[in-house]
Amino acid sequence: MKRVLSGIQPTGSLNIGTYLGSVKNFVKLQDTMPDYEFFIFIADLHAITVPKDKQLLRNKIRELAALYIACGLRPDRVNLYIQSEIPAHSQLAYLLQCNSYIGELERMTQYKEKSRKQETGVTVGLFTYPTLMAADILLYDPEFVPVGVDQKQHLELTRDIAQRMNNKFNDIFTVPNPLIAEVGAKIMSLSDPTSKMSKSDANEKARINLLDPENIIKKRIKSAVTDNLGTIKYDPENRPGISNLMTIYSVITNKSFDSIEESYEGKGYKEFKEDLGEIVFQELKPIQERYYELINSSELDDILDKGRDVAAKVAFKKIMKLNDRIGLGRKRRK
Ligand code: AMP
Ligand code: TRP
Repeated sequence: MKRVLSGIQPTGSLNIGTYLGSVKNFVKLQDTMPDYEFFIFIADLHAITVPKDKQLLRNKIRELAALYIACGLRPDRVNLYIQSEIPAHSQLAYLLQCNSYIGELERMTQYKEKSRKQETGVTVGLFTYPTLMAADILLYDPEFVPVGVDQKQHLELTRDIAQRMNNKFNDIFTVPNPLIAEVGAKIMSLSDPTSKMSKSDANEKARINLLDPENIIKKRIKSAVTDNLGTIKYDPENRPGISNLMTIYSVITNKSFDSIEESYEGKGYKEFKEDLGEIVFQELKPIQERYYELINSSELDDILDKGRDVAAKVAFKKIMKLNDRIGLGRKRRK
């Protein structure tokens, strides 16, 4: 069966920006691509390329797995697993490193940016990150890899490495295609509507996290920056604040900007924000309920065990085959 594969880093907090802009579309794929088998994993090995607190990392890994299921990822459609539970990821990363060049890794934009920002020592892991990502992908021969635009360069490198290894080792890998997410709405910060709502923004007021309680959700919407015109009109250039709130409204309710404007004619921000607070809360409520059901349950462990078992089998086979083609170890017995 043809495959789709993607990884998610367990860092930061999922917020309505990532949810409406990405997670929702992602979840849609499992229904719109019924002929494909899905492999989705929590990329915890990637998270430690920069230092991480032990307990925080543990919690994030589980939280993210539970949240993706709560957002609608279906365990019967998707193999969900944790990267570090499958040793083959690290094994293949090493084999790929022996077939990649320092020059091509030095060209990676994300490495250049992250290493510049890093205050203490830059680790070798941060440098070789793209080869680990290539390993994550090539182990499973997926045809498509849904990623955000920021990961496109890493995917191009993965294709280069795959083609190079195919020439050397008799077409061992499927060359994957990026599936650049259908651009969902871009949700802006609630305190500065000219910049993106970000999971790493130090200002908590800038975003609504998926697990925020009702009173916080409503408070954040209420205190969202608008302007002093007081009318509900979509005009992102001149009135980014209210336009951003209308975008959130529109994506959740599927109502057009025209029809939102119409229904709020003669009404002000107070009423609009009260309604929007309720709309966002109602959207997140079932996700939160499902999340709290899952987070400490053995159901979540069963899902992650099953995902790991299916993935580990595929991955182990690939490693054995490649070891053999490289000439490692002993010749395989027939
Ligand atoms: P990140 O976790 O920030 O790397 O983002 C993961 C995915 O969510 C990427 O595809 C981003 O484009 C998308 N995303 C993150 N923040 C937002 C936002 N505020 N609005 C829309 N999409 C977003
Ligand atoms: N590097 C990706 C990110 O930061 C996460 C990731 C790791 C990934 N391995 C992957 C995505 C393999 C797609 C395929 O978002």
